Amino acid sequence: MKIEGKNYRTIWFENNVVKIIDQTKLPHKFIIKDLKAVKDAINAIKVMEVRGAPLIGATAAYGMVLAIIEKNDQSFLKKSAQDLINSRPTAINLKWAVDRMIKKLSGVNSDKILEIALKEASDICEEDVKFCKNIGLNGLKIIEEIHKKKKDTVNILTHCNAGWLATIDWGTATSPIYHAHQKGIKVHVWVDETRPRNQGANLTSYELNEEGIENTIITDNAGGILMQRGQVDMCIVGTDRTLSTGDVANKIGTYLKALAAKDNNVPFYVALPSSTIDWNIKDFKKIPIEERNSEELSHLEGIDENKNLKKIRIYPKKSKALNLAFDITPAKYVTGLITEKGVCEASEKGLKGLFK
Ligand code: MRU
Repeated sequence: MKIEGKNYRTIWFENNVVKIIDQTKLPHKFIIKDLKAVKDAINAIKVMEVRGAPLIGATAAYGMVLAIIEKNDQSFLKKSAQDLINSRPTAINLKWAVDRMIKKLSGVNSDKILEIALKEASDICEEDVKFCKNIGLNGLKIIEEIHKKKKDTVNILTHCNAGWLATIDWGTATSPIYHAHQKGIKVHVWVDETRPRNQGANLTSYELNEEGIENTIITDNAGGILMQRGQVDMCIVGTDRTLSTGDVANKIGTYLKALAAKDNNVPFYVALPSSTIDWNIKDFKKIPIEERNSEELSHLEGIDENKNLKKIRIYPKKSKALNLAFDITPAKYVTGLITEKGVCEASEKGLKGLFK
């Protein structure tokens, strides 16, 4: 998708380095950063220079490529794979991508290993682009239906950033929106700010602006009253891990939005590529929920009048804060899962019908 009229992807390989857009600086500064070693890839995932489930999976795959370039040695590769998987806990895509790389590389002799690793990491990215495009086409049908009935602008609420910046291109939750816009359907997006890191305001609103899509940032608590007033036609969110039961882990606050949607008869959709499905865990209480540094709550970052990035404390110095990064939305609150293979019920039957 576009930034200042130029097409970008979120990650690519060039001259033996991995290039990423540093998302910790957006929307204020657009910086392309080089990852030269596997430790750079691990750090980029940890500090969220790259974030979003599909993108951290792709970064981990390229992390394996960087590890091979550094030291083509089995024990180093094994340790790198583990460190990449452990760099963030909730999104299943990290393990999915690293496992896929390991499987592809097992038994490959050392003079071919780099070429094969590079091809697999690139295939992971290409596949994600294709899947996200199909999610868009499948989700477009739902937006078209609403538009046909309403004959007016379709108002869509989204949480966090499940846009192209969280994937390689198109996004998951945003892909149906981009496709609707390209088809000439008028859409307006309510963008949850998504405290504490403000991925909604800083990333979703930013990327929608760059594509010319009308959007309004709201506080995370505003969705309920907008739904009561009939100002939300549907919700679409992303996910970091969807269980085969249809239960969905996503950015903290998603659950409360789903409850409000249920109470107001607003359809609540979750968009995901199959790389985000966890077929093993059945009990959502077993999903590891990331707990991040409380400084993300107690401090705010922004740009000052001299265009310098600045961090300020907003909480009392002595106060404790708890920063849980994700929550679980039980399947019963999910109207449907929008996947690359079609839209299904949020249940084992629904998912298996499409994928197994
Ligand atoms: O903590 P983040 O910014 O990595 O969280 C991102 C989300 O919660 C997204 O909704 C999710 O990864 C889906 S991305 C297509």
